[in-house]
Amino acid sequence: MNYRFAVENRNYEDFSSGRVFYNQKGTTSFPVRLASEIYQLCKSILLKNGCDKPYVLYDPCCGGAYLLASIGFIHGEEISGIYASDVDETITPLAERNLALLTKEGMDERISEIQKMLVEYGKESHSQALESSLSLRNVLEERDKSIEAKCFVSDITKNNNLTNTIRGVNMIITDIPYGEIVSWNSMEDEKGAVEKLLDNVLEVMSSDSVIAIISKSKSKIKHKAFKQVERFVIGKRQITILKPINTYNYRRS
Ligand SMILES: C[S@@+](CC[C@H](N)C(=O)[O-])C[C@H]1O[C@@H](n2cnc3c(N)ncnc32)[C@H](O)[C@@H]1O
Repeated sequence: MNYRFAVENRNYEDFSSGRVFYNQKGTTSFPVRLASEIYQLCKSILLKNGCDKPYVLYDPCCGGAYLLASIGFIHGEEISGIYASDVDETITPLAERNLALLTKEGMDERISEIQKMLVEYGKESHSQALESSLSLRNVLEERDKSIEAKCFVSDITKNNNLTNTIRGVNMIITDIPYGEIVSWNSMEDEKGAVEKLLDNVLEVMSSDSVIAIISKSKSKIKHKAFKQVERFVIGKRQITILKPINTYNYRRS
């Protein structure tokens, strides 16, 4: 697969999990260049539909929000809000901490933590982390506004009313469980789980919004209320971008 948008293969080591971004056992990260490609592809579809920035993003299987935080740093000038949810209540605090890094206050706190570790342990990894945190802080310095982020616990395969929490989403980008490190936290098979996820997010999607689902390369990502606008496979991952067909006529059966 050729990158169409993230054409430059930059050095993304500032985003390494555990360096500045927090991580915890059992969480996964995501290739940063691919995250940027998916964001920009979604944006190109939104622009074709006349939907210009700023954008609001949502990830209903956010894990530690590594994917969202990376996009927030690279494309944050075009993003006004981020929603992040996960079924695992032990993971949403991690997502919250990572998304707080998108604010100057959050990043300053992280810089102080890293400085303390550097004084206490003096490890090479801590001086690299300090360098990366200062360069990410510079990125934030250039911005007029912080991104507003909201994290919450939600099982996206159960009937739940997202309209109570989420407003004005333009782009949903989600890296669903592949069944290796993390699995669906429910009795659903993947097909059923994806269908319920799409049922649920449809309630907060307008007709010009898009959803990008990152799955195993052979997964069938389909729903009667959505049409596929893009699909590509890179390595073991498949990226499927869908658009609601008609958000008003579709009702859960
Ligand atoms: C591949 S990970 C996502 C990683 C995330 N994109 C990141 O950047 O950190 C999949 C996530 O789906 C979550 N998950 C599993 N079943 C779920 C469900 N029923 N509802 C919501 N989230 C679920 C898992 O807890 C896990 O955090």
